[in-house]
Amino acid sequence: MSQTALKPQEDVIEGVYLCTHLDLPDLFGDAVADQPGLRLYRPKDVPDPTRIRFALVWRPAPDAFDAYPKIELVQVIAAGVDGVLRNPSLPEDVTVTRVHDDEQAAIMAGFAAWHVVWHHRHMGNYLKAQRETVWDRTTIKTLRPPSQVRVGILGYGLMGQAIAKAVTALGFPVFVATRSDGDSAPGVSRISGADSVQEVAAQSDILINILPLTEATHNILNADLFAQMPEGAALIQLGRGQHLVEDDLLAALDSGRIGAASLDVFREEPLPPDHPFWTHPNIIVTPHEASVTSPKAVSDTLVQSVRACIAGQRPAAAVDKSNGY
Ligand code: GLV
Repeated sequence: MSQTALKPQEDVIEGVYLCTHLDLPDLFGDAVADQPGLRLYRPKDVPDPTRIRFALVWRPAPDAFDAYPKIELVQVIAAGVDGVLRNPSLPEDVTVTRVHDDEQAAIMAGFAAWHVVWHHRHMGNYLKAQRETVWDRTTIKTLRPPSQVRVGILGYGLMGQAIAKAVTALGFPVFVATRSDGDSAPGVSRISGADSVQEVAAQSDILINILPLTEATHNILNADLFAQMPEGAALIQLGRGQHLVEDDLLAALDSGRIGAASLDVFREEPLPPDHPFWTHPNIIVTPHEASVTSPKAVSDTLVQSVRACIAGQRPAAAVDKSNGY
């Protein structure tokens, strides 16, 4: 029996999966089934909607919560909660929890570090040369050591910290933009305050965005920001599609202001087949898979959060709905 078991088997708390495009029961059903005390249904199988006390969600439909008047807790299967907090049917008094998963952060850090090295080493040129069977060693003359390539990170939560650790371990100086003052790890310069994003971008040869999506960060990756960045800088966009003004990025790539971009998140997902990002020679597209949450982390967080709610406590994984993360 799991250590985080809610209550004896006969006292079952009922919940529902709510998602527009992932099969959550398929992804998380086994992990949740291991948790005595919880029972989750697909919406079509819910025996009595008034008995539903919690939901496990990812991008729920706009009216997804309307059918469940007794819902108390909404657990998101990921770290970002923007898609839930903006949902018009989300009841005001409901607690929203998200996943804090060290492994998810480690996977994200590896992905970000891989792209940092990709841009630092201009790997796209090697791939092109290989396709043309050209043995070209000109890079050897122009390569800057990592100590001379500044990496900026927008966002210094669990993910931002894991990325900073991975990137500093590779020898790059790291600058992070955060809302709050505080300590930072060795090799990491922390910049806080209202202009921190601009200050970090202005000194980033490679800029990584891992901010949460809030009203304040909407469209934050725009022409004004790109204009302040070093000529030919690279952008690694791992936050949310709505952070990026897409036409501004295309213009910045055309002018050479931005040299290359790695994009994992998009305003419209799936990225439409005719979108110019797919075929742009200096863009790498990945399908919002920079990281994943483990089913175990999701189900453990869910049980802990349900348990806290039942005890009348605020779950450790609860987000502050007023600041959006
Ligand atoms: C993924 O997009 C997440 O929010 O964890």
